[in-house]
Amino acid sequence: MATDATKPEGPDFEQGIDAGELKDGEMIAGRVGGEAVLLARCGRNVFAVGGTCTHYGGQLAQGILDGTTVRCPLHHAHFDLESGEALSAPALRSLPCWNVEQKGNRLRVTTIRAGRPTANPPTEALRSIVIVGGGAAGHAAAETLRSRGYRGQLTMLSADTDAPCDRPNLSKDYLAGTAPEDWIPLRPPEFFGDNRIDLVLGARVTSLDVASRRAVIEGGRTYAFDALLLATGAEPVRLTIPGADLPLVHYLRTLADARAIIAKLAATRRVVVVGSGFIGLEVAASLRARDIAVDVVGPEAIPLEHALGPDLGRFVRATHEEHGVTFHLGQTVTTIERDAVVLANGKRLAADLVVVGIGVRPRVDIAQRAGLAVDDGILVDEYLATNVAGIFAAGDVARCPDPRAPRPIRVEHWVVAERQGQIAARNMLGERVPCRFPPFFWSQHYDVQISQVGHAERGDQSEVKGTMQGRSFVVAFRGSGKIHAVATVGRDQQCLRAEVALERQDDEALAAIVT
Ligand SMILES: Cc1cc2nc3c(=O)[nH]c(=O)nc-3n(C[C@H](O)[C@H](O)[C@H](O)COP(=O)(O)OP(=O)(O)OC[C@H]3O[C@@H](n4cnc5c(N)ncnc54)[C@H](O)[C@@H]3O)c2cc1C
Ligand code: FES
Repeated sequence: MATDATKPEGPDFEQGIDAGELKDGEMIAGRVGGEAVLLARCGRNVFAVGGTCTHYGGQLAQGILDGTTVRCPLHHAHFDLESGEALSAPALRSLPCWNVEQKGNRLRVTTIRAGRPTANPPTEALRSIVIVGGGAAGHAAAETLRSRGYRGQLTMLSADTDAPCDRPNLSKDYLAGTAPEDWIPLRPPEFFGDNRIDLVLGARVTSLDVASRRAVIEGGRTYAFDALLLATGAEPVRLTIPGADLPLVHYLRTLADARAIIAKLAATRRVVVVGSGFIGLEVAASLRARDIAVDVVGPEAIPLEHALGPDLGRFVRATHEEHGVTFHLGQTVTTIERDAVVLANGKRLAADLVVVGIGVRPRVDIAQRAGLAVDDGILVDEYLATNVAGIFAAGDVARCPDPRAPRPIRVEHWVVAERQGQIAARNMLGERVPCRFPPFFWSQHYDVQISQVGHAERGDQSEVKGTMQGRSFVVAFRGSGKIHAVATVGRDQQCLRAEVALERQDDEALAAIVT
């Protein structure tokens, strides 16, 4: 995965800084040799850790401190300042740590030091763990099992033909042609062998035998488990109209899907995107970056209104129109032809390629057949345990209680899937970690990143503070007098502070952040 390779700026911490420059609760970005380093003071302690986030290279000094952790401004990874440990996805790798000394009034960063190792919980009871799914949740769970000291057999069965990949990038830089393919794997191939993770690709689990604790894959091979994680994600909803099977029609979920689209782009001048949700619009932005003409067809009057409210939806539409996208809203597609798409109003849009993004459905079939409790998602408790002992579920497929929501929610966000995978892994090992973090997602449209924390309920009123034209604003989603979620553009720190307030269920602090 890519990280920011720009030369670090700021004071040379080997030379030192005046100790008074670093106040309690503050951070300073600087450098040691050629490396970016973050210096942070938390009470009596001063910490020095790597200054760039191990996810996409976000500048941690632009994030926030919370106790002895730092949160990244871009996609809200959390790092422990004492150990450098990546505590919360999307960052999976730790930060380097340095020693700091104070002599007189001078603070200096000295030698690199080892991070504190994670305490190993007892794991003797489990000899074999099987993870079904090689996506965000499954991969994060596998890493966590090993980093928390699990030493038994660990098998990841994935229907994908590629190793776990950075799925969000597939509709963004990778599709736009600005991210090379070697940025896409979450880990290099040797990672799995080095960590004794038996990654089996192209392995679709067809059934689970709950009584004898076995997972069966296509072809009949079985895998015994003491504990199992279902992380089967979601699959794109397919069009069923005439022409839906024509070769110009594509969906985007896997790296193989993305490769298939990209392979056709050299001969593509016009694309019709069916669906004006997040994936459809990110695809539109990436194809415009390649100078391909894009029409977007969607049934709603304002794109993304159901998710982001009318004001932010209109903002997103205007951003796309500024970049040359043509919208056909309040419309559905009735027929696809060899070189065109026909709309319900009779209009015919020429197309060399059609990309369909009309939503996803949780992949619950094997859980359902095995008799697990399912209701538009696999039902889990706050420890991500299903109704069958030893079987857990995480990610897009899981429906989980949220302390801030009136009923269990199922979320389709990358960071949520990874964090749930991490929590499920710890609970498989016998820790009792409740899943209570507020959902977070981001979406990228050209140079505009939308970030959102919390879970807006249908019917919530959205209220905008700040300047949309200046691309610096906050949107609060409010219902029954409470703020349920906060979306931001150009206000990363506010979004992080809202995350902390939501975690603590501190309504007053949350209201103060969005005023
Ligand atoms: C193109 C794209 C862009 C996105 N961009 C963003 C974004 O910007 N921000 C954001 O928050 N979210 C984004 N998302 C959503 C995010 O990727 C998902 O929420 C996340 O991947 C869910 O993780 P998961 O592990 O639950 O499922 P997945 O990542 O889909 O993984 C599911 C895994 O299960 C496997 N599987 C399924 N059935 C079986 C079976 N029967 N046997 C074996 N294996 C099986 C699949 O092959 C796959 O490996 C995007 C999604 C896509 C497709
Ligand atoms: S760059 Fe830090 S979380 Fe993504």
